[in-house]
This record gives sequence, C-alpha cells and structure tokens, in this order.
Amino acid sequence: MIFITGDTHGEIDIRKFNSRNFSEQKNLTKSDFMIIAGDFGLLWDTSNECKYWLNWLSEKNFTTLFIDGNHENFELLNSYPVINWNGGEAHKITDSVVHLMRGQVFVLEGYKFFTFGGAKSSDIEFRKEGITWWKEEMPNQEEYDEEVKNLKFNDWKVDYVITHTCPIEIQEILKERFNKNLEFTELNRYLSKIDLKTTYKHWYFGHNHLDENLTDKHTIIYNNIIRIN
Ligand SMILES: [Fe+2]
Repeated sequence: MIFITGDTHGEIDIRKFNSRNFSEQKNLTKSDFMIIAGDFGLLWDTSNECKYWLNWLSEKNFTTLFIDGNHENFELLNSYPVINWNGGEAHKITDSVVHLMRGQVFVLEGYKFFTFGGAKSSDIEFRKEGITWWKEEMPNQEEYDEEVKNLKFNDWKVDYVITHTCPIEIQEILKERFNKNLEFTELNRYLSKIDLKTTYKHWYFGHNHLDENLTDKHTIIYNNIIRIN
C-alpha cells in the first residue's frame, strides 16, 4: 500500500504517525510506503532529538519516503549517500527512510511517481543562511534539466506527481479560496509547464498547510493521510 501526507516539520507534526492517528499501520510492513510531500525536517541538525524521532520513524511498520520542502537543512541532507532506488536517484537516510530527489521518476507497486521538491520560504528575513535557511531550497538548472530528461524518457506520462509547492494556476485557486498571500516564483512557473505537458492521474503537494482537493487532479495535503492506491 502507498500512503501520502503533508509536511512533518521535524518533531512538530511527526505525531500524525502515532498509532492513534494512523491506526492502519498495524497491518502494514516495510513493503508499504508513506510519502511525505516536503518539509520533512528531521534532518534539521544532528541533535539527539532529531536522532530520536528519526529512529522512532525508522521503526514504524512502513518505509518512509520524503521529498524536500523549503524548511530542510540541505547541507546535512546532501551529505547522505546517493543511491539508485526503484528507478530514480535518492538519498538513503536509514534502512527505511529515503529522500526522493528532484526530477526523478520512481516505480512503486507498478505506479510511476514523479518527484520534485523545493519551494521558496516566505520567512527568509527571519532566517540565517547556513543555520536556519539554505539557498538550495530552490532548484538549480541541473535539477530542472534532470526533470525534463526523466519526463521525456517516460514520454511525459506518469501516474502521480509529488511536489512541495504547486503550479501557478493552483496558487491562484489557493489565493482566491483561502486568501493566501503567495509569491509566484520561477519554480511555480516551471511546474505550470510540467502540468500542461505531463499526463498523470493525480498531483499531490504540501507547503501551504491545508487539506483540500483544489481541482479534480490537484490535492494539497497537510495533516491528512491518504491511501493512494
Ligand atoms: Fe511547511
């Protein structure tokens, strides 16, 4: 089985995986997957607190997969070994916690997942570079190129798209419906192009901390845990 949820923000929102909130886990195994749509946050530093929760997560009855958001320590994240995992490049964090890198296509239970993390932080002025903020939160050209290369290779057809932020057209809906003050960045523009060109069943994203189906194909996810297949 494959599940998806939104931002976990380190220990702040990780309790969504405790047995009371997510009771289905008792029937799962390490062959089942939980995907987190960015702002994972448990690689924030090397503190005992982060280690404790990473260990807690690793011992769960499922394998955790996450894309990066904007609130990640990219220096620490990029220090982990890159592995080839189910068709795409990933960072292996523990035996059952895996970071799905940007612009990759992974095959899980026969379904193709296109992943593209990253977003621009709206609170940069309160953050300090290299301590609470990293410029790698936004993709570089190499990562955009990787995206195009891998989607081309798959004839622009996947089953699911998992991103942290969303296309501009979806931001417009968020702005209108939830009065969100959102900045349209080059990444959002890029995702709009991907949305137009790619055939897919459903697109899930996090970042704006809401649970809502915004169109019949775009779902913003935060606290909910949705079974995908
Ligand atoms: Fe977040």
